[in-house]
Amino acid sequence: PTIFAITPTYRRFLQKAELTRTAQTLKHIKNLHWIVVEDSHEKTNLVKRLLNHFGIRYTHLNVRTPVEMRIGRNKPWWTKSRGTEQRNVGLKWIRDNIKANETKGVVYFADDDNTYDIRLFDEMRTINTVGVWPVAFTGAARWAGPICEDGHVVGFHTNWKPFRTFPVDMSAFAVSLKKLLVERPEARFDPDIKPGFLETSFLEQITTMEQLEPKASNCMKVYVWHTRTETPIININGEKQLIKRGKPSNPDVET
Ligand code: UGA
Ligand code: MN
Repeated sequence: PTIFAITPTYRRFLQKAELTRTAQTLKHIKNLHWIVVEDSHEKTNLVKRLLNHFGIRYTHLNVRTPVEMRIGRNKPWWTKSRGTEQRNVGLKWIRDNIKANETKGVVYFADDDNTYDIRLFDEMRTINTVGVWPVAFTGAARWAGPICEDGHVVGFHTNWKPFRTFPVDMSAFAVSLKKLLVERPEARFDPDIKPGFLETSFLEQITTMEQLEPKASNCMKVYVWHTRTETPIININGEKQLIKRGKPSNPDVET
């Protein structure tokens, strides 16, 4: 089976570092097709070069989040979901270009900033419908995710909005191509959904708790961490000082 990994990404101080880390993980995975969707009006040279360099099979797409959906100056960060349009564009590409009767596979929504154990991708290859597993550092706890008994999901562990039908992070599940292309060809991420409900609203369109397939040793192993890299403010501010003094760091050195 082919693993289609859809990764939304956007220009920021740490982008190249995050994408390099993710690319170097994905490079280990056989039969993976990386769909990178930039949150931008144009595809950037930085991402183009990076994708060329690593030799991973990829598709490079872009879509700018509409202005009213962006996390802006006057809007607190938690008023909008991130990466929504980008994941939908990635899904549309798969639906337009891949045929479920020709290709067996799964789709995984791999954000550019998480930490992935490559064993996670082995778990995905046996998914028939929707596979699930725990994710560390989510749900306002050490980990959040499915609680599994005898090969069935019987509930969820989380410390944040536990009343959600599927209280899991984006990185906690992968979905078969058959499910997304044949059984639920309309399923998509809802850009208007309240933040924190993006995952549950998507999963509610495609599955039920009974149908979920527990992975990662009956959901006892953590193979993905919701890491969020600290923004190096000291360097951002330092660079601003240098620019003011007319001594910027050589712009030909790409970071
Ligand atoms: C959590 C979840 O892990 C995300 O999958 C979910 O999209 C997000 O909450 C949400 O509901 O908004 P978090 O770490 O807070 O994630 O979000 P980010 O990692 O900042 O963003 C998720 C993805 O979208 C990343 O791949 C990021 O590069 C991308 N993104 C973020 C954009 O494409 N555009 C943006 O303006 C911001
Ligand atoms: Mn993140």
